[in-house]
Amino acid sequence: MSGWLLLALACGAGGDDTGDAADGGLDSATEAFCQDAPVVTWNSFGQGFTTEACQTCHASTTAERNGAPDSVTFDTLDDVRAHSDRILARATGDEPDMPPRGGVSDDDRARLEIWLRCWLEEE
Ligand code: HEC
Repeated sequence: MSGWLLLALACGAGGDDTGDAADGGLDSATEAFCQDAPVVTWNSFGQGFTTEACQTCHASTTAERNGAPDSVTFDTLDDVRAHSDRILARATGDEPDMPPRGGVSDDDRARLEIWLRCWLEEE
């Protein structure tokens, strides 16, 4: 799993490519990962997830950031796009460490990874 993640970070996430898995817009590792992935979007999942799991510390308006960097906020879809490679690194994969105290289910981490890797560039 972590190998795939590294590959995606190295060549996939953050590009300005608007293609989808079907027409070869994603690199092959991502394409394989995304092949039968369910549709996950900001509206269906991302906004609610980041609000609950991350924004207590990361929102631009939060009163107590608990040390979360001012520059790392997830208020909007564009904010998430700007940080998607770091979100993948810190909140998905084999040893996620965001949020720092855990509390996110494996299912939600899987949805997060699918959203960021397969659908983010299409929204
Ligand atoms: C309890 C507070 C808290 C919560 C909740 C939290 N974070 Fe953080 N986050 C921090 C702190 C503190 C830092 C800075 C220290 C560090 O990088 O470990 C940070 C840094 C980050 C960074 C920037 C550092 C890097 O590696 O690039 C990212 C990205 C990030 N968090 C993602 C997330 C995501 C995604 C969530 C929700 C799934 C989340 N965080 C939830 C406190 C929090």
